[in-house]
Amino acid sequence: MARHFTDKIIEGDCIEELKKLAAGSVDLVFADPPYFMQLGGALTRPDQSNVDGVDDEWDKFEDFAAYDAFTRAWLSEARRVLKPNGAIWVIGSYHNVFRLGAALQDLGFWILNDIIWRKTNPMPNFKGTRFTNAHETLIWAARSKEAKYTFHYDALKMLNDELQMRSDWTLPLCTGAERLKNREGRKLHSTQKPEALLHRVVLATTRPGEVILDPFFGTGTTGAAAKRLGRHYIGIERDPSYAEGARARLKKVKPVSIEDLAVTKSKKEEPRVPFGQVIEAGLIHPGAWLIAPNGKRARVRADGSLALGEATGSIHRIGALASDAPACNGWTFWSLETKAGPKPIDLFRREIRRQMAMAPGA
Ligand SMILES: C[S@@+](CC[C@H](N)C(=O)[O-])C[C@H]1O[C@@H](n2cnc3c(N)ncnc32)[C@H](O)[C@@H]1O
Repeated sequence: MARHFTDKIIEGDCIEELKKLAAGSVDLVFADPPYFMQLGGALTRPDQSNVDGVDDEWDKFEDFAAYDAFTRAWLSEARRVLKPNGAIWVIGSYHNVFRLGAALQDLGFWILNDIIWRKTNPMPNFKGTRFTNAHETLIWAARSKEAKYTFHYDALKMLNDELQMRSDWTLPLCTGAERLKNREGRKLHSTQKPEALLHRVVLATTRPGEVILDPFFGTGTTGAAAKRLGRHYIGIERDPSYAEGARARLKKVKPVSIEDLAVTKSKKEEPRVPFGQVIEAGLIHPGAWLIAPNGKRARVRADGSLALGEATGSIHRIGALASDAPACNGWTFWSLETKAGPKPIDLFRREIRRQMAMAPGA
């Protein structure tokens, strides 16, 4: 990876600037592209005050064909710079999200989820001619069907009070102190996204130290979440005033400490520890007694097997025998008999894992 590009905001057109980045150098792309909203005329509230809609120059295109050509050009470059196991998030509204989704599939990305960001404080439909437009859609896609993309399932479950995280996220719009203002005290950017949204995306689908690219950086929300969570960012933004605002914002972001960055891991990700390793490490000695919840006792042998009467076998097999069950997880079943009382053998597995994590090169 061309390291000199990371933790920087590149000012320029994203298609041109993406071409300068090395292929396969980025772990995640987060893109919040122009919506091509095609707003017609000024919108007013019932009290005749003007509504701050998205009528910016950057959102204007000749027609759908021009928007599609632009979309496919930047998405192709984004795919080129992604690592083989990388992934992309795109966010859009009903104006553009279906076009984005079709382009993603046509270019070989593999859609993993679409997420509904339900806004707790959406702008009302002032004219009363349609439903309140209260959500945006995020599409999460792997670079290809074969990609081994990152997903911290257990961390997201933890973030949601131990309930599986669903695909509908309820979060407020970016308001208050988080909203960047220009010198006149007005919103610097019409579509600044809430950092909470990016916190979830970054935590769920990247690891600390990885590189996240945002080709439509705006006020740098992606960079703020990336920096706070110990990831690297590359931002591309065409408008110098947004880039300047983002730079000032990012300077103030303090990364959380390394020890606070570790997320809840899935059991599958933890290294496998055979019971024999506990014996080899001298944490439990051959001849010690393990005790089952029903009081049955088995003797530990030098090769990590257990003896229960005439029967011998692994902690799992003898656990199943002792509990008269078809299968048993010996690690959570047995305890070591000690003078101070029974001590679950899983504590010894944890100790081995702790030592493995501290080993050089781990
Ligand atoms: C929807 S906004 C992104 C807002 C951003 N997510 C945030 O939280 O502030 C899209 C941004 O893309 C920028 N932009 C539009 N076309 C671009 C292009 N071709 N290259 C680089 N930036 C572009 C616009 O200036 C605008 O700031």
